[in-house]
Amino acid sequence: MFVTLLILSVFAGNLSANQSGRSGDSGGNNDSIVLPEIIGDKFYYFGYGSNMLTKRIHLQNPTAIKVGSGQLNDYRLDFHTYTKRWEGAPATVVPHQNRTVLGTLWEIDLINLSDLDEQEGVPQEIYRPLSLSIAHRPNRTTVARVYALVNQPSTDFKLMQPDDTPFDRQPSKTYLKCLIKGAIETGLTNDYVNWLKSIKHNGNVVDELENLLDLKDVEISN
Ligand SMILES: *[C@@H]1O[C@H](CO)[C@@H](O)[C@H](O)[C@H]1NC(C)=O
Ligand SMILES: *[C@@H]1O[C@H](CO)[C@@H](O)[C@H](O)[C@H]1NC(C)=O
Ligand SMILES: *[C@@H]1O[C@H](CO)[C@@H](O)[C@H](O)[C@H]1NC(C)=O
Ligand SMILES: *[C@@H]1O[C@H](CO)[C@@H](O)[C@H](O)[C@H]1NC(C)=O
Ligand SMILES: *[C@@H]1O[C@H](CO)[C@@H](O)[C@H](O)[C@H]1NC(C)=O
Repeated sequence: MFVTLLILSVFAGNLSANQSGRSGDSGGNNDSIVLPEIIGDKFYYFGYGSNMLTKRIHLQNPTAIKVGSGQLNDYRLDFHTYTKRWEGAPATVVPHQNRTVLGTLWEIDLINLSDLDEQEGVPQEIYRPLSLSIAHRPNRTTVARVYALVNQPSTDFKLMQPDDTPFDRQPSKTYLKCLIKGAIETGLTNDYVNWLKSIKHNGNVVDELENLLDLKDVEISN
């Protein structure tokens, strides 16, 4: 009986690995060891928002090493809520059959996993970490840590006319430029980059971040 319970609990720990690793858990126990995105003393992380840009991720994660571009299948990119830092809606990924999200796959020191969770506001339940398969070259998939907003949008912003896009679905101009620069740097497809350029933004410019990340000259459609 005791042995059965033990096996069940180990099994349950593995099953929930894709949803676990909240940083609140990571101090006192060894939960994170079962996360499938961990390999040795590194973990994989998929950035699809501002963290596609090397200069941006290195501000807070200087140990991040770029693996290359990656693709998250059966999810869509969307924007929701508001962040003070960027003065607009931050990006999220939402399950969506047959849609794909492109981004950048990074390898980061495992010791800094809880730091990344902190940065993403996991303790405040702003973002939630998931372990998802990322397709990348050459013909491989790697499980990576991916953060999705806890407060997910219930509609698809891509179906909205630009002028009908509510304020809480619009990224700031500065944030969108950061995504565009990161997407180009990562070598994402022209179609994806051009689509990013066309997204409705709220016009807000955050000078400090534009200077820090060299975003002044990034081309944008609107
Ligand atoms: C997490 O794992 C459970 C059990 O393996 C699975 O049912 C669920 O779809 C997974 N969720 C995600 C987001 O991958
Ligand atoms: C975590 O793992 C380490 C090394 O295996 C061990 O020494 C420690 O006691 C474990 N901590 C907990 C809370 O299980
Ligand atoms: C997704 O693509 C498959 C294969 O092309 C298709 O059979 C299916 O209907 C699509 N699902 C949706 C929701 O579009
Ligand atoms: C990464 O972890 C090390 C060791 O805990 C710590 O000294 C360092 O500040 C962390 N780096 C970041 C960017 O949080
Ligand atoms: C990709 O890998 C799968 C499984 O290893 C293999 O079946 C497939 O032929 C590969 N495709 C290409 C284009 O190399």
